[in-house]
Amino acid sequence: MYPRPIIEELAASAPPLAAAYLDPARSSLHVTGRPVPDAGDFAVEDWMFAHADASPAVAAYFDYLRRAKGRFDAVSQSLGYWNEDASHSLGHDRWSVGWGGASLLSIAAALYTLRSYGVGGVVLECGVFKGSSTACLSLVCEELGYPLVAADSFEGLPDGEGHYGKGDFKGSLDEVRANVEKLGTPQAVRYVKGWYSESLQGWNEPIALLWVDVDLQRSALDVLERVFPSLDPNGVIYSDGFTKGVDFDGDRIMLTGGEPAGFYRFFQDRGLDYKAKPGGAKGLAMIVPRCKADETILFVEDKFAYLTGRLGL
Ligand SMILES: C[S@@+](CC[C@H](N)C(=O)[O-])C[C@H]1O[C@@H](n2cnc3c(N)ncnc32)[C@H](O)[C@@H]1O
Repeated sequence: MYPRPIIEELAASAPPLAAAYLDPARSSLHVTGRPVPDAGDFAVEDWMFAHADASPAVAAYFDYLRRAKGRFDAVSQSLGYWNEDASHSLGHDRWSVGWGGASLLSIAAALYTLRSYGVGGVVLECGVFKGSSTACLSLVCEELGYPLVAADSFEGLPDGEGHYGKGDFKGSLDEVRANVEKLGTPQAVRYVKGWYSESLQGWNEPIALLWVDVDLQRSALDVLERVFPSLDPNGVIYSDGFTKGVDFDGDRIMLTGGEPAGFYRFFQDRGLDYKAKPGGAKGLAMIVPRCKADETILFVEDKFAYLTGRLGL
């Protein structure tokens, strides 16, 4: 997951380094036919830092990441309030701030990379709550020219499952709209209200990136069953609800519970190729459909953490 102009410059100025990662015959946006060097190898990131002053491509990417982090932090700091409708058994929906700050940065980076490769479509967010991730993503979507579609019941969860109960994580559409108007870029956002089993029925708009934060196995399945065929062949999925060491078996998803179980069943039942990895923040998975057994996802969270760490993010 490196922006195209950076990969092109890397290939021109450091061919052996590019060749270590990229197989010209079989590499694409997110995958490579080469085994990606192990965690702890930061050669491409070090090359970027060495070229940050001379390379407009690297400088633009770093500037984008710095600005995204500043904007996401501002959303997290300003959105906070107690949720009067809170009902989650462990109190997870008492505070209005969900995804934001550094935890969304790898999604922001993925969007930048998708744009650099000309991948079109919308960003579909399933799981809005009070609009924390919606406000953040609206800012980068607007900058990159991706429409953001925010889909939710706006009545909270449809059912109980595990520690979740019906109605948890409720944010009304008016409340979300107000938050996005105050902290995000409202003109970048379109809302789809209703239960996914109905509201996403007949979905046929191309999707560049699908962001799933729906807590329940059934809800993850409801989303995937209706929108997966519209995901661009180079599109990517991010999901909440994944724990390292629990929900991944190498680069496959384990049949555990919640969202991971929804993804597991969806891909397993259809015999679809995919690979999945921890997505660069606690709880996050990056899922690359169509990734074959002998291909590797280019994104490695240690390398991204090294990059953002050196950028002071
Ligand atoms: C954890 S919250 C999302 C948090 C949000 N991304 C944030 O950053 O704050 C989960 C959301 O999924 C929605 N949801 C879950 N299952 C749904 C379904 N089947 N149909 C519609 N909305 C659903 C709930 O209404 C809730 O707003």
